[in-house]
Amino acid sequence: MEEVELATSGGGGVNDDNLIPKMKQQTNPSKKQSGSFLSLFAAADKIDCVLMFLGSLGAFIHGATLPVFFILFGRMIDSLGHLSSHPHRLTSRISEHALYLVYLGLVALVSAWIGVAFWMQTGERQTARLRLKYLQSVLKKDMSFFDTEARDSNIIFHISSDAILVQDAIGDKTGHALRYLSQFFVGFAVGFTSVWQLTLLTLAVVPLIAVAGGAYTITMSTLSEKGEAAYGEAGKVAEEIISQVRAVYAFVGEAKAIESYSHSLKEALKQGKKSGVAKGIGVGLTYGLLFCAWALLLWYAGILVRHGDTNGGKAFTTIINVIFSGFALGQAAPNLAAIAKGKAAAANIISIIKENSHSSERPGDDGITLPKLAGQIEFSEVCFAYPSRPHMVFENLNFSVDAGKTFAFVGPSGSGKSTIISMVQRLYEPTSGKILLDGHDLKSLQLKWLREQMGLVSQEPALFATSIANNILLGKEDASMDRVIEAAKAANAHSFVEGLPDGYQTQVGEGGTQLSGGQKQRIAIARAVLRNPKILLLDEATSALDAESELIVQRALEKIMSNRTTIVVAHRLSTVRDVDTIMVLKNGQVVESGTHVDLISKGGEYAALVNLQSSEHLSNPSSICYSGSSRYSSFRDFPSSRRYDVEFESSKRRELQSSDQSFAPSPSIWELLKLNAAEWPYAVLGSVGAILAGMEAPLFALGITHILTAFYSPHDSQIKRVVDQVALIFVGLAVVTIPVYLLQHYFYTLMGEHLTARVRLSMFSGSFIFSFQFYILNAFTD
Ligand SMILES: Nc1ncnc2c1ncn2[C@@H]1O[C@H](COP(=O)(O)OP(=O)(O)O)[C@@H](O)[C@H]1O
Ligand SMILES: [Mg+2]
Repeated sequence: MEEVELATSGGGGVNDDNLIPKMKQQTNPSKKQSGSFLSLFAAADKIDCVLMFLGSLGAFIHGATLPVFFILFGRMIDSLGHLSSHPHRLTSRISEHALYLVYLGLVALVSAWIGVAFWMQTGERQTARLRLKYLQSVLKKDMSFFDTEARDSNIIFHISSDAILVQDAIGDKTGHALRYLSQFFVGFAVGFTSVWQLTLLTLAVVPLIAVAGGAYTITMSTLSEKGEAAYGEAGKVAEEIISQVRAVYAFVGEAKAIESYSHSLKEALKQGKKSGVAKGIGVGLTYGLLFCAWALLLWYAGILVRHGDTNGGKAFTTIINVIFSGFALGQAAPNLAAIAKGKAAAANIISIIKENSHSSERPGDDGITLPKLAGQIEFSEVCFAYPSRPHMVFENLNFSVDAGKTFAFVGPSGSGKSTIISMVQRLYEPTSGKILLDGHDLKSLQLKWLREQMGLVSQEPALFATSIANNILLGKEDASMDRVIEAAKAANAHSFVEGLPDGYQTQVGEGGTQLSGGQKQRIAIARAVLRNPKILLLDEATSALDAESELIVQRALEKIMSNRTTIVVAHRLSTVRDVDTIMVLKNGQVVESGTHVDLISKGGEYAALVNLQSSEHLSNPSSICYSGSSRYSSFRDFPSSRRYDVEFESSKRRELQSSDQSFAPSPSIWELLKLNAAEWPYAVLGSVGAILAGMEAPLFALGITHILTAFYSPHDSQIKRVVDQVALIFVGLAVVTIPVYLLQHYFYTLMGEHLTARVRLSMFSGSFIFSFQFYILNAFTD
């Protein structure tokens, strides 16, 4: 017997390996076949292979322990039945088997740990590597990718969600799938070797149960998805109303707002009811079929026992093994589906990584570097359109910026000022024409070197969530702390940084949220100073600042502009008054150039712009901005609804906590029950169902014991009588099972859904009773 088991468990292992890819293709026929099963493990290295091998081994063995347990259990039953008249032999046999069970427990412990831990470990490792490769390849792409594909295919979403799917598939699901498949095969093998007739019969009925269980799982998951979607919809309605609370109050729309929220909650309630019914029927049907199956199998086992073809222990082992094998297959299915999803996600990620390696002749790594750069920039007959838009930004643009001088570009919003700055950095290449640096085509220069020659300060300073020192060090990674401080001094940042509690080690928070706009900008300037670039690019560096910070930042900029080629884009014309040359851009052309004095005396476009701005300045001193920063001001004035929400919640929570501490003790079960008073009738009905359902399992166990005892009785007629009786009772149980479970699940679900809907609605409408100030206060404290 033992030999057979070992052989079968090994055989099962081999089969499993072949089976997975096949099954996966079945579960996922619609997906493109590009990603094979192995593509899921594309990022695995040698250690991962070892981990996966050991993990698989652990999972196989773990899967086989349950069938082996049933064998031991069957033998115990047999010993109990046969040796009941020889207490001595019985004790020694039983303790022998008990010892086996202990060994088995140890094997299960170790193999389960290896099966889970090793797979999790390798899942982490492989996904981390995949994420890194993905990010690296995305960063190697040129800007047009970000303008077009990345925007459409949502890079950020993919890098997180696809990687999570892959990690899930590798880390958890593959191990589980292997375990259940191993249990399935070993269980069947055991069944066939012990009582093949019973196994065949079980084989005929198990699929019914499996189909019922599978259908139930699928229905439940779609229903719960729909329910979540419905609640999500309701949440959105609430979020929208709360974020528009000014308007709601202004137009006295509270009643309407509450009505629309309650309407969207009703949809969720409807889904909830449906899932209650589905749950009841699903669980009831599955258990009902199971009872019927047991009735049939025990009845047949009774015949076999009476004919002396088997004994009670073996019959029990066989039936329970095959039934659990069926379950194991059912449990393997969702894992296999997750593996299929992970495979598709891996194919997605890999296609991006591969795509890049095809176009690896990406310009930039090769090319020349200039030993001494003067910094003269020339645009010659440059035509350009963004890859994502056909509209030409420049047509035959010509201009030249002298080395070491400061040139300013002015012009209406959308005239292409920022585009010039991007093109100088070679983020985009001209469709035709040339951009020359000291007479060399940008295309012939090494990209990394080229960008090292430039420092950029743009409208939104890009700070990363690390310390101030590290943010400045991004300008030049190997600089010493003294140089950092020097740069900060040049950027007028040193004094305020010194004043912060942690000085240069202060964390700036994500995107620099813990600093003011002017402070952030000065850190960005310090970063540019540290780099000490030959070419300085300033794109509306001060336009997001208030007048006072603008002045400080402007001074810092002036200090660092000397001795390098500087291209300034400024929204406020007064700040570029003193530059060497001003170029006026309009319709993708330089329409005027010269010094401030020249251009004013010429009385052309520039003079008109200056006039316009000074009159605007007079009539509305706060709106001195000349070009396109309205976007930002609107951002600053109103916190986004999400942030609003979080703050709303956190302040609410704080309120709850503080009131908690001061007077109200945490709500007792009794209070919760009172809150639920309206749903008590549901609770009673549900509980009746639950009690009845709870009684079924002990009754079932009782029936099985009766039959097993009867199997060892010497009188055939007694066996037949007991078996017939119990089988009939099981069928009876099966019949009442569906209504009982329906009662339980439907009414409990109804109770829960009604309660949450009611509480949500009353919280929501209650929040309108608070005054408008409540929102304002809560939105701006923190
Ligand atoms: N990434 C982009 N993709 C497509 N079109 C763009 C992109 N960036 C800017 N544009 C368009 O190119 C034109 C010039 O933009 P831009 O150089 O930002 O103007 P400015 O900085 O002078 O306000 C505008 O019409 C703008 O809509
Ligand atoms: Mg711009």
